[in-house]
Amino acid sequence: MTRALDTRTLDTRTDRSGPPLPEPRGPLSAAVVDALRGGPVRAVDVDHADPYGDDLQLALHCCYELHYRGFDGADDELEWDPDLLRLRGALERAFLAALHTDVEPSDDVDAEVEALLVEPVGPGVRGLSHHLQREGTLAQLREYVAHRSVYHLKEADPQAWVIPRIGGAAKAGLVTVEHDEYGSGRPERMHSLLFAEMMTELGLSDAYGAHVDRVPGETLAEVNLMSLCGLHRSLRGASVGQFAMVELTSSPGSERLVRGMRRLGCGPAAIRFYDEHVEADAVHEQVVRRDVLAPLLAAEPGLAADVVFGIRASLLLGDRMQDRLLGSWERGESSLLRPLPAG
Ligand SMILES: [Fe+2]
Ligand SMILES: [Fe+2]
Repeated sequence: MTRALDTRTLDTRTDRSGPPLPEPRGPLSAAVVDALRGGPVRAVDVDHADPYGDDLQLALHCCYELHYRGFDGADDELEWDPDLLRLRGALERAFLAALHTDVEPSDDVDAEVEALLVEPVGPGVRGLSHHLQREGTLAQLREYVAHRSVYHLKEADPQAWVIPRIGGAAKAGLVTVEHDEYGSGRPERMHSLLFAEMMTELGLSDAYGAHVDRVPGETLAEVNLMSLCGLHRSLRGASVGQFAMVELTSSPGSERLVRGMRRLGCGPAAIRFYDEHVEADAVHEQVVRRDVLAPLLAAEPGLAADVVFGIRASLLLGDRMQDRLLGSWERGESSLLRPLPAG
């Protein structure tokens, strides 16, 4: 009986149908959405768009989603449409150019990793997990989870693109971590599923893509960087850097979120996702340093600058997202473009 119930739950959560197309936020995203509806790919002015802005980031998000689940009503073959790929290339060049302008270059991966492992301490530390641990409201926690759902409902998929692009010990190490992200052979332990269960507990829709129209460009940009680095072999070093940044910093932040959720009275099904990451990512931190970064750089030392770029670009975009959320909350406003339904 229990088994049948479990299977039904998993069936609904593994529904592979695509989400509806998002609402465009300007000429770039309108061009992509119209093309996904079957129209021609219009010429658009990418050069004068804000590379971090809502319009460009939503346009990129829509292009990338063709490689994951696609969209309801969009032809799956558009994934390899030359005109759409050309437009995606222009969007990517604008995004990457901005990141290269804003990220200080370095090829000292060891120093970068050491810096990541130093946790800022003290009561005045500003950060999303610090805020949610100490004083965030349940409404803010629900918003935070809605933002994060753009990534976590497809957790570890963007990083899976890099597997065929690296080799030897680094590949084996990365797959070890990915194996855990996908539940180590137990579908009920997949991190994307644990995240979906948390959403349900918090009274949020866990449908894939359900919150895309609510989240700002800052949120989309973080996930777009993962897809961008994953989909380009030339950016495999940056992809591993982005992956390392998440695994090296997630454990303490997850612990703060667990404490915050307990303070807010959330139940075990809600807390399980972050609870799982406290221990899992403490282990992943070691695996990433010893079994991914070290062999990757031994095999391809020329990737060091790209690894640091991946780390620093992720940090930059994470800071931008954090500023957006905390700034909104400090002003007493919602951080979302559209309100969430009541839980
Ligand atoms: Fe995870
Ligand atoms: Fe992890």
